[in-house]
Amino acid sequence: MNNSDENDFLKLDFDRLWKGRENVTAVESGIIKSLLGNRHFGRILEVGAGNGRLTNNLIKYCDNYYALDKISNFLEKINIKSGIFKVACDLEFTPFRDGVFDVILMVRVLNFIENPAISIKELHRILKPGGILILSFYHTGSIADLFDIIINQRTEKNIWARRSRDKKRVKRSNFREFFFKKSYIHRILSDENLFINKAASSGLEDYLFLKKLPPAIFIKLSYFLGRSLIAPHTFFSVLNKESISDIDDDGNLFRCIKCKQSIEINQSEFNYETKCPSCGHKIIFNNGVLLP
Ligand SMILES: C[S@@+](CC[C@H](N)C(=O)[O-])C[C@H]1O[C@@H](n2cnc3c(N)ncnc32)[C@H](O)[C@@H]1O
Ligand SMILES: [Zn+2]
Repeated sequence: MNNSDENDFLKLDFDRLWKGRENVTAVESGIIKSLLGNRHFGRILEVGAGNGRLTNNLIKYCDNYYALDKISNFLEKINIKSGIFKVACDLEFTPFRDGVFDVILMVRVLNFIENPAISIKELHRILKPGGILILSFYHTGSIADLFDIIINQRTEKNIWARRSRDKKRVKRSNFREFFFKKSYIHRILSDENLFINKAASSGLEDYLFLKKLPPAIFIKLSYFLGRSLIAPHTFFSVLNKESISDIDDDGNLFRCIKCKQSIEINQSEFNYETKCPSCGHKIIFNNGVLLP
């Protein structure tokens, strides 16, 4: 994400963008629940968590929930509760040691990042063997996509045109690429030796009269939609089949982003400053957000 993209994000009023779309969050939460298989996990990392639209749904499935986002102003909006931890950094360079997360989720982020392949590599590094990676993204080629192009006059430069009131607000975007093919995500995952276990699609609940239908219908249909090209937004769930046995999970998750040495960080700090004992790199807590 370059600086102009970051400005694009800061311009967005997430609260307004999501107003009246609780049905979309309900459908996405239902799909995530089903992809996680009703299990309880140790650590979940949400990458690109924004202002925590999904936080309350995700903390139910784990002991510890980690929200990561490049923009710390967004993370500050997530309420501090026990078991919630916030990290502001670029997802290409995270301060985590190898194989520490049971689940990593990245919802509505892939389309906005500079280098999806490098990001997937980093997420694979910090995912436990046997862990689950869930990615969602908008793709081309769906019936809904065609509807957006023709009826909503969406173009690559006007990605927010899905709702006419947004069209006025953000006219142009600097995002390098927005829509890509499902096959592109297949390819960058298989380059990392990661293979899709389940696919479920959503997004129809955001259109016309479909908004009025109960979310449960779309959750039920999501696996069928995942195998077709009807809905515009897809979740891929990937199981990390590797069996690396030399990961020592001694409970310490962190490493210095500069020298990569393991470091201990007190996760309950609010405003605090410390240094990496190996290289002296400064690590800060600002309003409960770790700036590694
Ligand atoms: C469209 S928002 C989605 C927010 C949230 N996942 C949701 O579904 O409501 C994309 C988020 O990804 C974050 N983001 C984009 N590029 C990033 C990067 N390189 N590293 C970390 N976060 C990034 C943005 O700051 C933003 O909060
Ligand atoms: Zn260091």
